Amino acid sequence: MCGIVGYIGPEQASTFLMDGLSKLEYRGYDSAGIAVYDGTQIHVEKSVGRLANLEKKLESNQLIGNLGIGHTRWATHGRPSDVNSHPHTDCSGDFVVVHNGIIENYMHLKEKLIEKGHIFVSETDTEVVAHLVEEYYKGDFEAAVKQVLSEIEGSYALVFMTKHEPDKIICTKQDNPLVIGLGEGENFIASDIPAIINRTRRTYILSDGELAVVTKDSVWVMNRQGVPITKKVFEVHWDAEAAEKGGYEHFMIKEIYEQPRAIRETMSSRLAKDDSHIILDELKWTKQEMAAIKKIVVVACGTAYNAGLVGKYYLESLSRIPVEVDVASEFRYRSPLVDENTLAIVVSQSGETLDTLAALKEAKRLGAKTLAITNVVGSSISREADQVIYTWAGPEIAVASTKAYTTQLVLMSMLAIYIAGLRDTISAERSRELISGLRNLPAQLHEILEDVESIKTFAQKYGFNEDVFFIGRSLDYAVALEGALKLKEISYIHAEAYAAGELKHGTLALIIEGVPVIALATQHDVYEKTLSNIKEVKARDAIVIGIAQQGDEQIKKYVDHTIFIPQADKFLAPILAVLPLQLLAYYAAVTRGCDVDKPRNLAKSVTVE
Ligand code: F6R
Repeated sequence: MCGIVGYIGPEQASTFLMDGLSKLEYRGYDSAGIAVYDGTQIHVEKSVGRLANLEKKLESNQLIGNLGIGHTRWATHGRPSDVNSHPHTDCSGDFVVVHNGIIENYMHLKEKLIEKGHIFVSETDTEVVAHLVEEYYKGDFEAAVKQVLSEIEGSYALVFMTKHEPDKIICTKQDNPLVIGLGEGENFIASDIPAIINRTRRTYILSDGELAVVTKDSVWVMNRQGVPITKKVFEVHWDAEAAEKGGYEHFMIKEIYEQPRAIRETMSSRLAKDDSHIILDELKWTKQEMAAIKKIVVVACGTAYNAGLVGKYYLESLSRIPVEVDVASEFRYRSPLVDENTLAIVVSQSGETLDTLAALKEAKRLGAKTLAITNVVGSSISREADQVIYTWAGPEIAVASTKAYTTQLVLMSMLAIYIAGLRDTISAERSRELISGLRNLPAQLHEILEDVESIKTFAQKYGFNEDVFFIGRSLDYAVALEGALKLKEISYIHAEAYAAGELKHGTLALIIEGVPVIALATQHDVYEKTLSNIKEVKARDAIVIGIAQQGDEQIKKYVDHTIFIPQADKFLAPILAVLPLQLLAYYAAVTRGCDVDKPRNLAKSVTVE
């Protein structure tokens, strides 16, 4: 997730670009840059770090001109650095581009362009786009951009300009947002409405596959074949604060709704086109090195630890390597049994959690091979680990982690399939089954998000109970732990998760009339056993909300309410089942009037012990 802006009109472009970028910093803040055409040349200024660094540079090097584009980056390909910052140019500097998304086939395109003599300076996927426009430009900018679009694969919002046709900006999108703000004698382009709301409330929201040629007096929208499209003007009625949250009341709910996109992005370029295998080019371990691994330890804190618990199931059952999961603050002080035949996987959204970083260092000191799964390129943990794979969830702002968790699960499942492939412990058929199941997830998450009314009602109804229990078996138990954590941290309700079979060994004493129990029953192999546990709590007059797979008519007989998730492989069901739990926690917190995005006593990044 990055933020992009563009301006064409009578004013100094840099004024709008910098103001617009400041409103988009929530989309990324690894680096920022702008490009402005001064009437003769395009000048680019960029800087690693927050927008303030770029502002400082511009104080001594003002970019003058009425046509420009800008970018604030959340790194995916290539660490945060000046050279990896956008805008990117071709060899001549005549063509510039800013990009939000991932160009999946960039390596292939880059090799072809290098053969033709193009020289690349950055590690990014975006730079190929600038070189491609240069390659295809034969006096018609629009035609060149269309040709580029026919070559690139992946997700993108792209904004182009060239000194050869300085009366226009061209922009397009696929799976990433792009908005055109309609002014009087000027027009604006941005990833999101907050960037333009101070200038105009009249917008065109571009749809996938649409391309717009924007001049100061006109906006022509067409499809990639050039067929004109008549757009309806969308009038924005939100205030600036609501606009930053995309019209949602809180960042948490916005991020919950971002999960289909975050997951799609995290999988993009990592699933073979024919579903036959997982592509994790980031990992450099050989078949022999993987064969030598005797044990895996997964170490993390909080929600990331809960993701690790799901990861254990994936890794153990697919790769047949024993897996231990540990809380980072415990691992580091318990003299763990770790050696050179151990793979230590640390999971951290921020990549800065001190306990996780210390655990990683301890594992390294003991000789383990180390792998980080994190959301922040260039973070301390990503730099310390031997190897890194990134969740491409975009910045997570709400303290309660949602999209980071689901993307961690997606990555864990891909990692397990990948390692199992290297160790020959997964059949081609099972691998294909899981990969095609992964592909379905974004649409299935959308399906759940389309109908949240019943979840809202349950949250409002039971939001004032002081105790809530979550139960489940196998993978459902791991998800129950995350559901309970989410509810605790934002609604301050006392919530506990139990392995359903464990209830009768003590906790059942707490189940009395009217206590809400959220029972997860998505795992077919333990389904009957879970039903027995549901009957146990029902017999004590608990109010039971069942989470089950669509088509499960049986569960309705034993619970008070059911929330259905779309049918999925048992391995992938957790990625769907957690969504109603996140929503329950969110709406319970709203019902109780809690500060959802900033729960008491908690911080987003815990850099103290
Ligand atoms: C809960 C939550 C925390 C974090 C934990 C680890 O919603 O966000 O439990 O998961 O503090 O943080 P990271 O993943 O940044 O290491």
